[in-house]
Amino acid sequence: MRLDVFTLFPEWFAWFAGQRHVRNAVELGSELNLLHYRDSTPLTGGQVDDAPYGGGAGMVLRVDVVDAALHRAYDSSHDSPRVILLAPSGRPLDEPLAAELAQERHLALLCGRYEGVDERVREHLSDDTVSIGPYVLSGGELAAMVVADTVLRKLPGALGHADSAVEESFSEALDGAPEYPHYTRPASYRGWEVPEVLLSGDHGRVREWRLERSRERARSSA
Ligand code: 6GU
Repeated sequence: MRLDVFTLFPEWFAWFAGQRHVRNAVELGSELNLLHYRDSTPLTGGQVDDAPYGGGAGMVLRVDVVDAALHRAYDSSHDSPRVILLAPSGRPLDEPLAAELAQERHLALLCGRYEGVDERVREHLSDDTVSIGPYVLSGGELAAMVVADTVLRKLPGALGHADSAVEESFSEALDGAPEYPHYTRPASYRGWEVPEVLLSGDHGRVREWRLERSRERARSSA
């Protein structure tokens, strides 16, 4: 998987790139590249945004700036990415969409800033628009990290334990239901007991109990 993130704040990603599952993914052959819109802007003085036509507050990321960034990154390569614009009005990110994105060989994530991004970026330069939830962030960077996190952790080997990503919340193994509850030592703490079945050593009963708890959670969150 190659992930290219276009942003005005590449330094936001330094912490993210240092996290273990991200480093693991990179060691296993994935790429996380940060591209700064300013480095390829065709405008003078590093300009990337402009006042909105029709008036109003704030600045809008320009379509020519985003187009130039994409051209600079991909003109000489045969490998064209699936281009995802991050915006609050996009398709809500959920586990099926994350799984779909994890199948791609190459993703480009476009972060907007300021009041927004020129609509022509959505219309002409991106394949999909994705939102991470019904609230407004000050930019697409945190959303891009969320997308990158959920996608990279699905790649084989990114998590320490190979099964960790298989039977987890919303996975197919659990029929799309939230994950069952987990417990570890101590078995009894301040009178709060671990369910007896988990201590029983009966794998069949444990499995049944976990599936039932998972379904129960699906019903109560629906
Ligand atoms: Cl992708 N961007 C911004 N700016 N706000 C958001 C979002 C994205 N998803 C939810 N809120």
